[in-house]
Amino acid sequence: MSTALVILAAGKGTRMNSDLPKVLHPIAQAPMLEHAMRAGRALDPDRTVVVAGHEADMVRAATIEIDPDATVVLQEEQLGTGHAVLQARAALAGFQGDVVVLYGDTPFVSADTLERMIAARSRADLVILGFEAVDPARYGRLIMDGESLEKIVEFKDASEAERAITFCNSGLMACDADVMFRLLDKVGNDNASGEYYLTDLVELARADGLAVTAVACPEDETLGINSRADLATADAVFQARTRAELWDLGVTLMAPETVYLAFDTIVGRDSVIEPNVVFGPGVTVESGALIRAFSHLEGCHVSRGAKIGPYARLRPGAELAEDTHVGNFVEIKNAEIAAGAKVNHLSYIGDASVGEATNIGAGTITCNYDGVMKHRTEIGARAFIGSNTCLVAPVKVGNEAMTATGTIVTKDVDDGDLAIARAQQTNKPGRARKLMDMLRAKKSRQNKG
Ligand code: UD1
Ligand code: MG
Repeated sequence: MSTALVILAAGKGTRMNSDLPKVLHPIAQAPMLEHAMRAGRALDPDRTVVVAGHEADMVRAATIEIDPDATVVLQEEQLGTGHAVLQARAALAGFQGDVVVLYGDTPFVSADTLERMIAARSRADLVILGFEAVDPARYGRLIMDGESLEKIVEFKDASEAERAITFCNSGLMACDADVMFRLLDKVGNDNASGEYYLTDLVELARADGLAVTAVACPEDETLGINSRADLATADAVFQARTRAELWDLGVTLMAPETVYLAFDTIVGRDSVIEPNVVFGPGVTVESGALIRAFSHLEGCHVSRGAKIGPYARLRPGAELAEDTHVGNFVEIKNAEIAAGAKVNHLSYIGDASVGEATNIGAGTITCNYDGVMKHRTEIGARAFIGSNTCLVAPVKVGNEAMTATGTIVTKDVDDGDLAIARAQQTNKPGRARKLMDMLRAKKSRQNKG
């Protein structure tokens, strides 16, 4: 059976108090819309339609970046969830199969739940996703009649008795596309909000003699986000879930609640993550690596046995081979560090390659930027870069070559050569003592005068 996703994302999200549309606020460094779209991928959809409205251009651009095959349709006025789904009709022309409606601000529905919704379609024409709410607040209430769902009553329209029900509507539903659009044509807006409610499909379906049921999922999967506080809660839920996944994969987290993971962080077995480590997007850490405290990683790859930090910064394009060491206050960007190489102290390595087993001394800087363009530094294998070396790119240092401490390298250094570029030292015998005596005498004259 084919499926199509319709993801509702037109709402303003007033309570976010933001210029950014609600669905683009990030959770674990990906827009919540991306989480919703990733969740929907579990169904291997044939088409994905995102309904945008508020700040539609921003939502469109973000959607295409997440999935270039997705279609974005515009809901000019936000007249309700039923009206929103209707906007997807043209984009789904010719589509045969099930439509699954997701919300852009309900990002955590699991693959298992979506699959159970689709499975329930064998016994019902319309399947609604519900959950037992600890605090049902303003959610729509599901009025059940045994296995079948009788109707959904919005909080605003509910009686006292209905408000006492704790089985609530997540908003997500699955239904045959033709049936859904046929029923949506009949939805009116005669209710407490004057909106076209998607939830009215339940009663309309029953009136047509169709079967309607509800599938239940854990409440944390239907977590809806309406405020910054909800966003923080959602992020915390995501972090807790991802930490648990890492534990199952054999990763040790010291002070786990201080480690911040991104939506796509990958960490291999027997790796250890010390406290206060932040993962940006696009990080892969292989097995048996050690990421020490206060390190910040994004868009990088750390191989087996590497030791990073404490206080290291790995930026996009940092490629660290096996058993590399990157120490404190070292920044690496767009650079390959080959197996066994060490950059242990206070260095910047950008737009560079460092060969196998090479040692980069403390305070080494690749001067990669001339104010207009970026240039590369290439350092060979088993080389020794002396402390406080500046490598003025573009420049190459050969295999087994050395640079003396404090050298400003502006010319290539061949294999096995030593480069020294610094002022000659001269020692003046006894001059230090003489100078001190002179200065002390001057100070005592001033104090007397
Ligand atoms: C909706 C449900 C309610 C359910 C709750 C779960 C209806 C009528 N009510 O209520 O039963 O318990 O979700 O969170 O469906 N949207 C649009 N266009 C619109 C209106 C909404 O795209 O014209 C989008 C919003 O951006 C949001 C989603 O649809 O992603 C839900 O809209 P919202 O206004 O939050 O609905 P609720 O009142 O919460
Ligand atoms: Mg809502």
